[in-house]
Amino acid sequence: MMLDITLQVARFNPDLDTETRLQDYFLQTEEQRMVLDALLEIRDFQDGSLAFRHSCRSGICGSCAMMINGQPKLACQTKLAELAEDSLIRLEPLAGFRVLRDLVVDIDPFLESLKAIVPWLVLRPNHNGRMSPEALAEIEAMGICILCGACEVGETQAGTGLASLAKTYRFAFDPRDALGPERIKLAVDLGLLKWPPYEGFAAGCPKGIEFEKGLIPALRALTIQQE
Ligand code: SF4
Ligand code: FES
Repeated sequence: MMLDITLQVARFNPDLDTETRLQDYFLQTEEQRMVLDALLEIRDFQDGSLAFRHSCRSGICGSCAMMINGQPKLACQTKLAELAEDSLIRLEPLAGFRVLRDLVVDIDPFLESLKAIVPWLVLRPNHNGRMSPEALAEIEAMGICILCGACEVGETQAGTGLASLAKTYRFAFDPRDALGPERIKLAVDLGLLKWPPYEGFAAGCPKGIEFEKGLIPALRALTIQQE
């Protein structure tokens, strides 16, 4: 089925604009297509000046995260049909991030903030680097964080730290990692488990990581065990 949609897109050119303005684009498109497909069509056939990020088109790179009708989502994973009840679809840059141009935000401070939790594997000495399918299954649910930044859209500008917690869990339970449980202590020292950050993040992780019922209670329980 074909859909008639209006995409209302936030525009900001730092060389010309003092504030963001909204621009409407009209499109007839198939309902099974994604928001990113619509943006690409607009950029290719209507307005080559429209700026947005994308890469994988498969929900893997995280670069297409944006506010879609006020909720942080991945444009390449959000079907136009999901939004079809209202033919007007509003697209804005991820809230809480500095806007560089149109839908492109400065993701660097978010990535820099992750460094505090050492978000990489520190291979144990003499370990062959292999892990069993069972060990992988333990960490897989948290290992799917793609660093899209959607969970930074909390109530504060300070960021939620949810991605840091997902990475903490993912590496703390990796049998190959030399830091292991020390990572949970590090998260505690950084104050990541004190404040319940998920309270400002009701929209949900695009990759389905469960914070409120999964990740955070699990990490808190381990913290208590270690005391
Ligand atoms: S935890 Fe989810 S929302 Fe946050 S950065 Fe990772 S994938 Fe994105
Ligand atoms: S383009 Fe890579 S996650 Fe959307």
